[in-house]
Amino acid sequence: MGRVLSVASECVPFIKTGGLADVVGALPAALAGQGWEMRVLLPAYRRLRPLLDEMVEVLHEPGLFGGVGRVFSGRQAGVDLLLLDAPHLFDRDGGPYNGPGGDWWDNPQRFAALSWVAARIAREGLADWQPDVLHAHDWQAGLAPAYLRYQGAGGVGSVLTIHNIAFQGWAPASLLAELRLPAAEFHPGALEYYGGLSSLKAGLVTADRITTVSPTYAEELLRPAFGMGLEGVIAARGGDVTGILNGVDTQAWNPEAETHRYSARDRSGKAAARGALCAEFGVDVPGPLAIVVSRLTDQKGIDLLPSVIPDFVAGGGGLCILGSGDPALEAAMRDLAKAHPGRVALRLGYDEGLSHRMFAGADAVLVPSRFEPCGLTQMYGLRYGTLPVVAATGGLADTVIGASPATLAAGVATGVVFHPTDSIALGQALRKLLALYAEPEVWARMMANAMAHPVGWEASAAAYAKLYAEVAK
Ligand code: ADP
Ligand code: GLC
Repeated sequence: MGRVLSVASECVPFIKTGGLADVVGALPAALAGQGWEMRVLLPAYRRLRPLLDEMVEVLHEPGLFGGVGRVFSGRQAGVDLLLLDAPHLFDRDGGPYNGPGGDWWDNPQRFAALSWVAARIAREGLADWQPDVLHAHDWQAGLAPAYLRYQGAGGVGSVLTIHNIAFQGWAPASLLAELRLPAAEFHPGALEYYGGLSSLKAGLVTADRITTVSPTYAEELLRPAFGMGLEGVIAARGGDVTGILNGVDTQAWNPEAETHRYSARDRSGKAAARGALCAEFGVDVPGPLAIVVSRLTDQKGIDLLPSVIPDFVAGGGGLCILGSGDPALEAAMRDLAKAHPGRVALRLGYDEGLSHRMFAGADAVLVPSRFEPCGLTQMYGLRYGTLPVVAATGGLADTVIGASPATLAAGVATGVVFHPTDSIALGQALRKLLALYAEPEVWARMMANAMAHPVGWEASAAAYAKLYAEVAK
């Protein structure tokens, strides 16, 4: 059995701000089925410190960016977990990346510390465990392959996965020495990035292989609009870059396990789920009931909703929104709900249980993203027969078959796909949704297609296993 050290800043069920956590949390079980044993290294954020009591210390790092670091190991919630306890960096109130006043000022040092320890474990191993592969996720772990490369990889292979290139882990060049990076590598072909440092770029130039979370995003990343400054770095890696689509946890996301159960064969329970959802949100919707479950940010195209939802409501539709994020978008969603009482409703905040009831009860899920490396909610939508209405970008384009005369005639459509991400195209998509909903047989066929579409991890786990085998030396 091969061994993989996965290093990230988030992992379900321990700490989550987005889909990164779902993916990092799902990989160990998915890869176990492929003959790869995975341990996950996370920072011991304040809220995770109680777990340390049940874990054993396996590594001591006396000088870790201003304090002592200790790694604890143990099986928690079904995951072989390694926690980096470094109180001077992680024992704080607030989120993983920010506190009350914004981003933590020492994020470069905090995640350099995580990466430093990951590289050390990869190179030296633990008393009972020597990884064959280091798998780093996003900018927070970007320095791990760099430390491994610059200090001698000792035969351990490395993979860096890009979940979202919008976050690049920028730091001023003056931190080069403090971050323990070699001065000789500070040039445009390696660590230098617009005069400073980027931990994501460091990973992109040093990892043996690079993946991102969908085949379409892997292609999009080569273009400036999506690569966000790193397109040239990625292009230079050529065939080392591949897209492996995320899966979803089909046990956690299962319409047969919800309160009002239903299945692809017997969908009668969905009507009860819909009724309960309408009651919970205080809406009464004659046409299609759509949902949005999302971070409220520019990436997600949330700002387009106010210009298209009035027509959708006039056509009989309704919308329930669950999310939080940008204060201006939160205010816009509040106004939208206020303008359409009984048809549009909003819950601000993060609520996993409610999100399940929304996917179970709704007819459609809207994902109008400007870019979407993979996206998970459209896949929950497929699984629940809650038809996705998605922008043709990234993983959205790779997972949804848009309704068109041809796909409807062939009986394969699973949702509505629009392009480009603007209010005209989204408005048209919602008109199409209303028209499809008015034809119960067509709608039923699309629901059946959606629910039959595979969204689990099987195929992608095999792709990761193949990649690990290639980089393990
Ligand atoms: P991203 O990681 O860019 O936010 P993804 O679609 O990959 O986008 O993952 C988002 C994850 O977070 C999904 O599991 C989604 O259901 C969940 N999520 C987002 N906002 C909320 C919320 N307000 N309440 C509950 N779950 C949410
Ligand atoms: C990022 C992306 C999202 C992707 C997730 C997990 O947060 O924005 O599209 O699904 O990572 O890979």
